[in-house]
Amino acid sequence: MTVKIFGTPEVQDFLKTVAGFDQEGGNERAKQIMHRLISDLYKLIDDFDVSEEEYWFAVSLLNALGHDTQFGLLSPGLGFDHFLDMRQDATDAEAKRTGGTPRTIEGPLYVAGAPEAEGFARMDDGSDPDAEVMWLTGQVRDVDGTPIPGAKVEIWHCNSKGCYSFFDPTQDEYNMRRTIYADSEGRYTARSIIPSGYGVPEGAPTDVVLKSLGRHGERPAHIHYFISAPGHQHLTTQINLAGDPYTFDDFAFATREELVVTAKRIEDKDEIAKRELDGSFSEVVFDIELAKTEQPELQHRHARPRAKAKEDEQNQASQLAASAKV
Ligand SMILES: [Fe+2]
Repeated sequence: MTVKIFGTPEVQDFLKTVAGFDQEGGNERAKQIMHRLISDLYKLIDDFDVSEEEYWFAVSLLNALGHDTQFGLLSPGLGFDHFLDMRQDATDAEAKRTGGTPRTIEGPLYVAGAPEAEGFARMDDGSDPDAEVMWLTGQVRDVDGTPIPGAKVEIWHCNSKGCYSFFDPTQDEYNMRRTIYADSEGRYTARSIIPSGYGVPEGAPTDVVLKSLGRHGERPAHIHYFISAPGHQHLTTQINLAGDPYTFDDFAFATREELVVTAKRIEDKDEIAKRELDGSFSEVVFDIELAKTEQPELQHRHARPRAKAKEDEQNQASQLAASAKV
């Protein structure tokens, strides 16, 4: 027999007590949100007749997620990051800030304070000699097609084993993390290596959740970007490389049609010589268009706890990004 007690005055009064409605202190918004959240969960327990075993398994799983700092991984896996992007898209559409390169999720692995360069940077430290050389380039423009000289292009990506510097202690500091200021024609260029796709570790708490949904935890090869310029809306995005088995089946829901880019293999000797490379390479071209805005708060990335970095006081408070891979 299934009992239903959620709607009783006793439970409803209890919820108000739990949410601190009868207390003077605390934060009013926190009380309202927690009241709603706990109410929804109580109702869920009633509606699905959640057993004691199921409930305590869930508590144990939450502990494991926290212990392994995997909430930053579960969040995109359950679509929260993409949902927030969808809300931002809708806000932009309502404010008529249309056009420009689409945004997509940041993930938890940005590290501020990467070395800066003008126009060109080499991103990898050469310690992965078997990796394919990547020549990554593009132009930053406004939505009318006018180049934006000096635009700040921050790029980060993983190595050929799917690991990010800072979170992977075997790599040099800031390996494959650079800030490039666009040249007088709005162009940026980076020499790096083609990153690999990667997956949620087998048996990790996030994997347990995804498997219970019949889902995998794989991501295609991708490259993260922050792009900003005065008078333009800050853009957080990433490109997914075409041809990866997960390009259109990304567990983190970051893929957008306009952000799928082909890595073109180039073996022409003149092209190799022009770039002062030793052999064939893959070229990835990603042009970026930024929407215009005069609102200062839209010209910078939003605040969030990010990995601790030397040169960004905004982020000093947190190292919570931890070891998740997204
Ligand atoms: Fe990533």
